[in-house]
Parts: sequence; structure tokens; C-alpha cells
Amino acid sequence: MRHKAIITSALPYSNGEIHLGHVASTYLPADVTTRFLKQKGVEAYYICASDDFGTPILIQSEKEGKSPQEYVAYWNKRDLEDFSAFDIDFDFFYKTSSTENIEFAQYVFKKLQEAGHIYESEIIQFYCNNDKKFLPDRYVKGTCPYCKADDQYSDLCEQCGRVLEEIKNPKCSICGQTPVKEKSKHYFFKLKNFSVQLYNWLEKNENLQKDVKKYVQNWIKKGLLDWDISRDISWGVPIPLEEAKGKMLYGWFDNHLAYISTAIKFLNDKGINGKEFWNSADIYHFIGKDIVYHHFLFLPAMRIAMDEEYKLPDYIPTRGHLTLESKKISKSRNWYIGLKEFLEYYPADYLRFYLASINLYSQDDINFDWDEFATKINSELIGNFGNFVNRTLGFIQKTFDGKIPKPDEFDDIDNKSEKKIKTLAEDVGKLMEQNHLDRALKKILEFSAHFNQYFQHKEPWKKDSGTNTTVYISVNAVRSLAIAFYPLMPKSAQKIWSQLGLRGDVSEQSWDSISEISLQADHKIGSPSPLFAKIEESDIKKYRQKLGSQV
Ligand code: MF3
Ligand code: ZN
Repeated sequence: MRHKAIITSALPYSNGEIHLGHVASTYLPADVTTRFLKQKGVEAYYICASDDFGTPILIQSEKEGKSPQEYVAYWNKRDLEDFSAFDIDFDFFYKTSSTENIEFAQYVFKKLQEAGHIYESEIIQFYCNNDKKFLPDRYVKGTCPYCKADDQYSDLCEQCGRVLEEIKNPKCSICGQTPVKEKSKHYFFKLKNFSVQLYNWLEKNENLQKDVKKYVQNWIKKGLLDWDISRDISWGVPIPLEEAKGKMLYGWFDNHLAYISTAIKFLNDKGINGKEFWNSADIYHFIGKDIVYHHFLFLPAMRIAMDEEYKLPDYIPTRGHLTLESKKISKSRNWYIGLKEFLEYYPADYLRFYLASINLYSQDDINFDWDEFATKINSELIGNFGNFVNRTLGFIQKTFDGKIPKPDEFDDIDNKSEKKIKTLAEDVGKLMEQNHLDRALKKILEFSAHFNQYFQHKEPWKKDSGTNTTVYISVNAVRSLAIAFYPLMPKSAQKIWSQLGLRGDVSEQSWDSISEISLQADHKIGSPSPLFAKIEESDIKKYRQKLGSQV
């Protein structure tokens, strides 16, 4: 682990709201990791931006009668609001359409071109004589040549999932007329030339997930194709060449460059040398499995082609999709829960807790289940953890007038429990470092369950001789739990911190201090109150019924 880190998560398209699927695979894991790294003393920054360019966004803005600038500005703001409500705490949230990113993307294009990594080639494109436009990607709809589904976009069939080269019965998606084919000059990046370097980079990078690495290396073995990086549309980064007037860079050329341009702007504005920082930091790009190709091939190839002026990623944590009640999320079928909507039902920490508990560090899909959500919140979050915190603090309040008692002798069980505190930072920290959020959470819950039993077993309410020691060790375990839970549930952790009567912010406590016994006799705690409210079966039923219903 280096002393510096830059963490990014896949940039959300400025084209619709953030839903549970986005946060489960990408934003929550990245946010938790950043908070953890900061606790470990790493100078870590979490950087993100809205992904503003491209055909789908242009088409949608045209449909809504807005300029693309206006359209993306709306979603940029809305996304950031929703993320903030979920305590996704970016150090900086910017946009791919920023001046900085446009200039940077043009700089990179030029640099690659001068180094001979880009060539021109004529391709055949659909062109609408009525709209006087080339029609890339989503501008053409038609029939899938494989499964014969109608009304599919020319780049991808949503029925059978295939990527399409040639669509049948093509129609312009703006006016519905049949387009003609026209020649157009496009720019290609020589991806193929980087096959060996990419293969070797994957081979030697120990931090990448093995299974992802394997299938990316298989793609390379099967042969890579050069990559068309230009589009004949009006909304994008202009290709910085006289003869390329009216042509734009493909959105996947400029969007990942915004990881760099956004970080550099943020750091430079802070008075830090951005480039130096980038090149001496651990670089993390958190993504979902649908964009592996772009992050394991295009992105590193472009950085290699730039002579590694900006270093390649160290970690690309890749996760599977989230299904809802075991079915694929679909906005059009209303099989879908928006983040904003969810947070109207339950606090952010409930969702953070639940999603972390099912958060595999793998490509396997995970499932959101309303019943499981209710059970985990009621029995694990509240029954186990909340209960332990509340009974410990409540007991100190009631029996000792809010003051931690002086411990007596330790017996075996006390010693064993104290030892659990002393090893917690290491036990959980290891798993956090390895990106296993679900296992880290499980470890913390085991710790909490142990102390619940300990408290129960010792029966301090009987005021026998071991009482003071039990209370003393337990309240220190509460403190450890507050710090350990902070990356996962920042709001609740802070509440506990205040209830412990501790000043300042729990976020400022070092991770390793989890294992200190630092609360001493006579410390006065704050006023305890229940941290969480139970989930009602009837509410869950109501929310589940909303899925798939016509609205
Ligand atoms: N907007 C893209 C998506 O949602 C992700 C862009 S990630 C970046 O699929 F690397 F390109 F920035
Ligand atoms: Zn048309």
C-alpha cells in the first residue's frame, strides 16, 4: 500500500438517475474503500465526474427539446445530489465535458497521432438524407439479424444481447426514414499493436482479479481489433485536426481520460502537483463487469501509448450486476428502484449495510431481496449490533450515572474479550485491503455478537464482582465498533461516537486505534438513544408490490 491513492468509480452517464444497481457494484465499494484508506493514513482522494458525451445523450436531449449542455447539466447536478444523500463522499465530482477534459483529450489524441498510433480509414456509415446527418450507433434502429427482434439499436440488440455489425431494415431513429450508406473518414487507434504489452501488463499485475485477467488475456489471444475512435456527431470532443472538421472523438476515448484530467484539476487547485501525485499514488478504478473491455484494454493501451506519462491502474475492482428480487433491473418494465426513492423509505446506512453484506468481490451477480433486507436489518444490524451498543451505554447511564467504572481483576473471559479488541483492526483491515467488504462486515458482526454474548453471560445487572470490568471492556468494544463501522455506515458511526461522549469526528480516528483500549474510568459518556428503528413487514410488502406494476 502506497501512502497516496486516487480512487475513481465508473463515470455515470448524464442520462438518467442513479439506481441501486449502480451503487452496489461501483460507488459504494469505492466510497467504503476511500474512507478506509483515509483511516489508514493514506492521502486518498475519491474522484468522479458525469459522463456527458455520446449519441444516446444527444438523442435524448433532442427529444426533450433541450441543448445537450442544458441536459447534461441537469443530470450532473441531480446525480451528485443523490450520491450525497447516500453519503458517497467524492472529494471532487466534475464532468467529462469540462474544458480541462476537452483539452486533455485533444492533447492525448495529438500525442498518440504524432507517435504513429492513429490512422485514418474510410468506413461506410448510415446517413439520413432527410436530417442531413450521419447516423452512428443509436441513431439507427432496425431488426436484429440474429433473433429478428424489431426496434433494436444498430449497435446492440437488447433482446438477445448480441453486439450487431449490420442491422436489417435500418431506419433513422429521428425521422423514421430509411437511411442511405455513405463513406466517412474515421480515425482508428492501433489497439492491436499493444497486444503484447497489454498481455504482459496483465500478467505481472498481482492486484487484478485473476478471473477477469484470464478472460481478458483470452480476448487478446483471439486477436484484438483496432478501435474506431471518431464519430460523425455534433456532441463530443472535437478532433483537433483541420481536416477533421465536424468530427468528434468517440465518448469512450475521452471519458476515462476524465479520471486523469479531473484528478489533476482537483490536485492542482489544492496546490499539489497533480501529475507527480498521480504517478506516485495507488490508482484504483472501480467498475462493473459490463465495462471490463474498456478498462482492461482501451484504457491501459492508451496510457501505454502515451509512454505512461500517467501511470496505469494498480487496482480495477470489478463487480457483477445487481438483480432485483432475482430479476434483471429494467427501467422500462419498472423492475427498478431509484436511489432517491429508496432513501425516502430508509436511511442511507440501512442500504449501505445491506449492500455491503452481499457485496462479493467478483464478477458474480448479486441479488437485492426485500425480505433478506428486512431480516438483515432487523436481526443483524439492530438485534446484534444496535442492541449491544444500546445495552452497554444504557447500562452505564443507569447504573453508573454515565461514568465508566474502574475495572477490577480480569478473568479468562475478560482477557479473551480484550484480546478480540486488540486483533480487530488487523483482522478486519486485511479484508478491507483485499476488497472483501462482505467478509469485513461479517468479521465486525462476529465481534459484535461475541460482545453481546459476553455481556449476557456476565450479567452485570446482578452487580457481582466482575461487573465493572465487563462494563469497562464492553464500552471499549463499542468504541472499536464505531471506528470499524465508519467506512460502511458513516452516519451511524458518528452517532455512536457522540453517544460515547467523545469529541470530534469519528472519521478522524485512525483505523489502527480500533484496537486500543482508550476509554478510561471516569470518562463521561453522552446520552444513549436507540440507533435504528425496526423494519415493518407491511412496508416491505408495499415496496415489493411496486416492482413491475404499471405507473
Ligand atoms: N459512463 C460509462 C458507463 O456507464 C462508464 C464510463 S467509465 C470511464 O458505462 F472510464 F469511461 F470513465
Ligand atoms: Zn432521418
